[in-house]
Amino acid sequence: MSASPFSLESKKILITGGASGIGKATALLCAQMEADVVLVDLNELGLKQTAEEIGKESTEIYALNLTNEDQLEEMISALPKLDGVVSNAGIVYSLLAKFNESKDMERIFNINTFSHINLIQGLIKGKKLNKGASIVFTSSMSGVYCGLAGGTLYGATKAALAGYSKALAIELAPRGIRVNTVHPGMIQTPLTSNTSLSEELLEEDAKNYPLGRYGKPEEVAAAMCYLLSDATVWMTGSQLLLDGGYSLK
Ligand code: NAI
Repeated sequence: MSASPFSLESKKILITGGASGIGKATALLCAQMEADVVLVDLNELGLKQTAEEIGKESTEIYALNLTNEDQLEEMISALPKLDGVVSNAGIVYSLLAKFNESKDMERIFNINTFSHINLIQGLIKGKKLNKGASIVFTSSMSGVYCGLAGGTLYGATKAALAGYSKALAIELAPRGIRVNTVHPGMIQTPLTSNTSLSEELLEEDAKNYPLGRYGKPEEVAAAMCYLLSDATVWMTGSQLLLDGGYSLK
């Protein structure tokens, strides 16, 4: 057994959104730190690619839509007992407030908020969380530490998730299960490169970050691994901001 409190050796960790971006980088780093990972995503091809890059037989993949409650229930019943959960899958949805309609709210809240709540409920009811497990949610700086035009719905889904995580931390503390949330600023992933903004505008925007650039998925993955490890056994309900200093201004 490793003597390092940062080790993830032998931990079984579920990661949603493991086919791409932050989820993929977290899966790769967890595996590098000797955890066994279970990956979930809509994108089956991307999942297989992540698993191939990990190159360990113990890696499990589940291709499903997290907003589909039947698929979610079926997956949860097949899962092994977990030492960690990175509840991370989500979408960006940019829309000015005057255009917000119920169908938009439903679409973004279903994946960015409700699917996380359903996942956790299923894991608790199905007794899939080991004593001392660590749950990490991916929220955002947006909606919690700052507001961005077009981000009313997105920010609301992320603030809701942060609020949920705090009460969950209290409910699960008697079992030694920790619940923490990361709040990234702009991270260069497929999610952000698919925006309608031009390369020049993105470069200009990156200058608003005191550290001079957008973040990288590997940098969020490192924070995830810290929160999943025993180095943070006395940390619960925390909101960890990773934004290159953006919200200081
Ligand atoms: P990404 O698009 O690279 O990865 C998101 C993954 O979630 C994709 O593989 C996608 O297939 C999966 N996914 C989406 N809907 C799903 C569904 N219904 N069922 C199953 N899987 C689904 O995006 P990225 O950037 O890695 O985002 C990960 C999380 O980080 C998201 O929750 C996002 O809101 C959050 N975030 C991202 C930031 C960024 O700048 N990239 C900043 C702050 C937060």
